[in-house]
Amino acid sequence: MAREMVVVIDFGGQYNQLVARRVRECNVYCEIYSYRTPLNEILEKNPKGIILTGGPNSVYEEGAATCGKELFETGIPVLGLCYGAQLMSHVLGGEVKKAQNREYGKTETFFDTSSVLFEGLPEKNIVWMSHFDYISKLAPGFKSVAHTDNTPVAAAENTEKNLYAIQFHPEVLHTENGTKMLYNFVRKVCGCAGDWKMDSFVETAIKEIREKVGSGKVLCALSGGVDSSVAAVLLSKAVGKQLTCVFVDHGLLRKNEGDEVEAVFGPDGPYELNFIRVNAQERYYSKLAGVEEPERKRKIIGEEFIRVFEEEAKKIGAVDYLVQGTIYPDVVESGLGGESAVIKSHHNVGGLPEHVDFKEIIEPLRDLFKDEVRKAGLELGIPDYLVFRQPFPGPGLGIRIIGEVTAEKVRMVQEADAIYREEVEKASGKAVAYKDGKNPGPIADWQPDQYFAALTNMRSVGVMGDERTYDYAIALRGVKTIDFMTAEAANIPWDVLQTVMSRIINEVRGVNRVFYDLTSKPPGTIEME
Ligand code: XMP
Repeated sequence: MAREMVVVIDFGGQYNQLVARRVRECNVYCEIYSYRTPLNEILEKNPKGIILTGGPNSVYEEGAATCGKELFETGIPVLGLCYGAQLMSHVLGGEVKKAQNREYGKTETFFDTSSVLFEGLPEKNIVWMSHFDYISKLAPGFKSVAHTDNTPVAAAENTEKNLYAIQFHPEVLHTENGTKMLYNFVRKVCGCAGDWKMDSFVETAIKEIREKVGSGKVLCALSGGVDSSVAAVLLSKAVGKQLTCVFVDHGLLRKNEGDEVEAVFGPDGPYELNFIRVNAQERYYSKLAGVEEPERKRKIIGEEFIRVFEEEAKKIGAVDYLVQGTIYPDVVESGLGGESAVIKSHHNVGGLPEHVDFKEIIEPLRDLFKDEVRKAGLELGIPDYLVFRQPFPGPGLGIRIIGEVTAEKVRMVQEADAIYREEVEKASGKAVAYKDGKNPGPIADWQPDQYFAALTNMRSVGVMGDERTYDYAIALRGVKTIDFMTAEAANIPWDVLQTVMSRIINEVRGVNRVFYDLTSKPPGTIEME
């Protein structure tokens, strides 16, 4: 699809996806590429602007991530952020030095509001700084347009060449008006019109799918999660009964979820498609018996999914297209875009069925961030309660049971999780609002964006009635997050946690202790494995 685009060049910093997210919030499509990508490949994308991200190196270090001078000579506007800002100065003849003290955290910054970057902003504003190195001498042609008490160059510009540098992180929410600065760059400096909107995405996607698929047969693996549900509805709207959805119940779903998915996508649901449910619980449990290592578990779950799916596909016969609910963070985190290391293998990327007879893969959501998937879901008329359902990982409860997975442990975590969700939703008002399919409306401030129970591998001694117990501990996770890249433990009221604890211990056989996980991400991840 021809659309205006900004390229984000990734130098390995932790906020790189956030930069892309914020640019998309300005209704400008953007993609992330590694700094190793040759310049001619970047130029082939025909970008209207280029943003250089932060990174862990110092520009003067040997082997530091770098770029050629030519990047700044194409006439395309470039904005360097943090490391990207220092690199721009370094490469263009300025000077970058290590400061005596690191400038870190919320920092009062003074802006030259005549700079287009800071147009419409107050002259003083809090920003998020995180740097040791600083620009000690500007490159020729640049002038400083922001400073702090410690840094003479918190931002610089060379308007003649359309080059801009920001030392802090406008992409982080702690930076007041940060998105406005990025907006000023992509919309005012780069001249993007802002054509990236979800209504046009849906319309175009349906049209493109129809053109591509023609009268062909399409096969879709439906997990019941937000991503695959949105993908399935998109396909169903595009090609109706040419679509067959295979829903593998791997026995690692939340309590009652298999039946709920069937109610929506099955023959009694509102959508036109062929729906096949495979009950593969026993198969999964026997494959997972005795396996403790998280990455192996993920691999087994992913591979087994492919096997089950292949068997179903064989029964259907040759299909033309295979749909996957891959989204953009999956692509980036799997090391296929940007610089991010493979932190966890996401089972919906990479592993493809070898023995399914299909011509091509369709990944209709491959370019979207999670919140964009939700917006697309709403555009498609999918009920709110489905669209706003919290994300559930492909490997399911398999990665919420630490260590070996057994049917018995699945039961414990399912029951504990159902209680936890029920109590949180009751206390925050969310479930009530969702029941009528209405917008959730105002919900409690503490309402976590993702919350679930996990089963630790720890057993401990307790006493129930007069008897000594030696049972498992449940860990409750509840996080506040915007993009699932960073997260903080949600401040769930003590009385809610107490109710959940006592219900779990009383109602879930085999559990005698409940913990609340306070770890933020980073350094933790949201899931336990
Ligand atoms: P982590 O644990 O990486 O989770 O902090 C971030 C978000 O991603 C979800 N997640 C997954 N989703 N396949 C998925 O489809 C996976 O393998 C997977 N691992 C984590 C997790 O639930 C959270 O929302």
